[in-house]
Amino acid sequence: MKSLSVKLSVLFLIFVILLESILFFFLYVGIVSEQIYTETEDLKVRGRSHSNVLEKNFDAVTIKHVALMETEAATVIVVTDENNSIIENSNPVVNSMQQIIDNNQKEFPHPEGEIVEARWRSEPYLATLSPIESNGEVLGYIYMFLPTDIIRSRVQNLTSQFMLGGLFAVILTMITVVFLSHSITQPLIRMKEATKKMSTGFHHIELDIERDDELGDLSRSIQKLSDDLERIKKDRNKFLSDISHELRTPLTYIKGYADILKRPNLTDSQHAEYVTILQEESIRVTTLVTDLFDLAKMDQNEFLIKKEKIELCTFLHEVAAKFRGIAKEKNVTLNVRCDHQIILFVDPQRFSQVLINLLDNAFKHSQGTSTVNVDVIKTGDEVEIYVSDEGQGIPSEELPLIWDRLYRVDKSRSRSTGGSGLGLTIAKEIVEQHGGTIRVESKLGIGTTFIISLKGVK
Ligand SMILES: Nc1ncnc2c1ncn2[C@@H]1O[C@H](COP(=O)(O)OP(=O)(O)OP(=O)(O)O)[C@@H](O)[C@H]1O
Ligand SMILES: [Mg+2]
Repeated sequence: MKSLSVKLSVLFLIFVILLESILFFFLYVGIVSEQIYTETEDLKVRGRSHSNVLEKNFDAVTIKHVALMETEAATVIVVTDENNSIIENSNPVVNSMQQIIDNNQKEFPHPEGEIVEARWRSEPYLATLSPIESNGEVLGYIYMFLPTDIIRSRVQNLTSQFMLGGLFAVILTMITVVFLSHSITQPLIRMKEATKKMSTGFHHIELDIERDDELGDLSRSIQKLSDDLERIKKDRNKFLSDISHELRTPLTYIKGYADILKRPNLTDSQHAEYVTILQEESIRVTTLVTDLFDLAKMDQNEFLIKKEKIELCTFLHEVAAKFRGIAKEKNVTLNVRCDHQIILFVDPQRFSQVLINLLDNAFKHSQGTSTVNVDVIKTGDEVEIYVSDEGQGIPSEELPLIWDRLYRVDKSRSRSTGGSGLGLTIAKEIVEQHGGTIRVESKLGIGTTFIISLKGVK
């Protein structure tokens, strides 16, 4: 579980420590060489200033004086004649000094002085050589010696300080890296756990969605996915229980009336009535199952639309003709007002299914003497088909819900208006598959109007 944070920390740590080591190394080497350079330059300058004095007065008193000046310092001065024989020295000349003096083959060293021993790590003394000249002639030499243990101890000090600083930097880096990787991986781990929970069927999760970065975006997406899943699960359960309820009612009727039919002594008219009820109920079940099957196909995008050219007004009159009988029976006037010559490119069977449902709803909800109108208005390349009735209307808070599967405003299943509540869902799908829209306007006690809009009409 922690492996991502461990990997991140180790990678970060290696990278930063490598970077720090390189920086520390260059800084250390730079400081040490600067220190050595300063020491040797200083030695050369002092040698040069002594030789300046001796060039003016190269006599025993001045030489002694010069040597005396160095006795208190850590450095050692040795003055020799032109043959490298020692004339004077500030401190005792030890073997290693003598060796340097003996090894000097230079008759004319640089007037500003030269370094004759620079190996501060291995040799006991750093040494410079300055000539004492007068009128182009070398009178003698000045050797300046600096004990290298002083330098070595200074470098040692520097090394310990660097080690301490390095250790401090590494600890600080480790703390930073662990903190950083923790703050990045912790939300990721929480998200992983959340998605794992979701995959086991537990859809309600709560993540930190306040973060203002990519991790926050990811959390929000997962949170939305979980909310959607939870909603879908609820919808599915409700849909399933609604379907079973819808099926159970007609099946109960069928079973009940089939039992009654078995009874002896039924009159012919009773027999005929019960058989009619059986027929009606089985038609109801068949319609419900066909509608559900249509919806399932729509959900899987397998619902085929076979478009062809139709003349709208003729088509509407044909559909309306199917309702003439019921119109007469219910004393409802049915008007189709369509004067234009409008060509539509639609699936005639599916499109009539939409109109039949709208007209069926209109008639089901029209009481007493009233009117159902079908009007067509064409503006530019857009056509609108209005199906309106003077029925009881739909309460405004229910209007958005009537498109939902199995939704009925009147929940009790009356035998006269008892549809399954799938008609509008299917109508909406069909219209949308034709690239159109369907909407509703309704006023309680006044009536309801459904409006289908289609574009690209000739
Ligand atoms: N013209 C209308 N006037 C009043 N209410 C309506 C009208 N049209 C639809 N409704 C309400 O909307 C609900 C859903 O309509 P829909 O056509 O989807 O289902 P249904 O007619 O009950 O059943 P089905 O169409 O599947 O046989 C109806 O049950 C009804 O309550
Ligand atoms: Mg209907």
